[in-house]
Amino acid sequence: MKIQNQSYRTIWLDPEDEGTVNIIDQRSLPHKLTIEALKSLEESAAAIREMHVRGAPLIGVTAAYGMYLGLYHAPSNTDWATFIPAAIQELQETRPTAVDLFNVLQRVQIALQGKSHQQELVSIAKDLAAEVAEESVAFCRSIGEHGLKIIEDIYEKNGNKPVNVLTHCNAGWMACIDYGTATSPIYAAHDKGIPVHVWVDETRPRNQGARITAFELKEHGVPHTVIVDNLGGHLMQHRMVDMVIVGTDRTTRNGDVANKIGTYLKALAAYDNQVPFYVALPSSTIDWTIENGLCDIPIEERSGHEVKYIQGLEQDELKKVLLTPAESPALNYGFDVTPARLVTGLITERGICEASEAGLSALFPELNG
Ligand code: MRU
Repeated sequence: MKIQNQSYRTIWLDPEDEGTVNIIDQRSLPHKLTIEALKSLEESAAAIREMHVRGAPLIGVTAAYGMYLGLYHAPSNTDWATFIPAAIQELQETRPTAVDLFNVLQRVQIALQGKSHQQELVSIAKDLAAEVAEESVAFCRSIGEHGLKIIEDIYEKNGNKPVNVLTHCNAGWMACIDYGTATSPIYAAHDKGIPVHVWVDETRPRNQGARITAFELKEHGVPHTVIVDNLGGHLMQHRMVDMVIVGTDRTTRNGDVANKIGTYLKALAAYDNQVPFYVALPSSTIDWTIENGLCDIPIEERSGHEVKYIQGLEQDELKKVLLTPAESPALNYGFDVTPARLVTGLITERGICEASEAGLSALFPELNG
């Protein structure tokens, strides 16, 4: 996708230095475009933990490149049998909810098994990171093609009036490598000339909607309006939302989805108002080992500081200001689980299915085993 008419991805190997991986540091968006150079496993782990990069697919790809950087920069006399599991563990401990992180690291672990020459280890890790990145791009592109049909249907049914889509958090290209998941059908529709307008939930406390989704849509010229997280229900009651599309960090085999905190409330409001509620996901975010999302998906708890302080631009400088009484404690769960019964459909790279084990298994028979 483009920023100021220049094509970007969210992560790329530095063309001039094999030992550097570049990312967009998303903490300063939308006010500053900061490109950060990652030069080690530790820097990659910190970038995930402190959310320079975020979003399930991008977390997975950053972890893969983190392994590559760790292997590339390690001294040649490293004991690989100790180094590799320790590196995987360090990356696994960065964020608990997005299953891509664990799925990708498992792929890396399997690929490196039995290898002990540094050159070979480095080359395997580098190829795998690039492969996972390309896979994500292809998955997101296909999600766009499948989701486009839903938007086209609504457009026709509504007598060719603009389609109002509500989204939560950022499941856009900044959360992936390109295109995004929830945003991919929106971009596809916009590019095809179907008028779409997006209601962008600000998504407290880190405001990924207000900062990042709004930035992406603005750069691509998609009409949008940023709203406070509490407005969605009201808009739905007044028929101002035609559909909801969100992403997911972990989807259980029976179609429950864990996504950014507040998603569940939007699903409830959508259900009560008969607004279709779709979840867009690449198969990399399915956790086939889990059946009950509410009991079994690990929910990240982050620092209360993220709730108590808010960041903004003041005279060209990014500043954080205190919002609450300094003494008030704050609770900050990052995700909630929307049960499958509230989900109208799952938009995947292989098509749209019911949010159920039968639906997912029909599309991905080889994965459910
Ligand atoms: O905490 P974040 O910003 O990593 O959370 C991101 C989300 O909740 C996204 O909706 C999810 O990762 C899907 S990304 C395509």
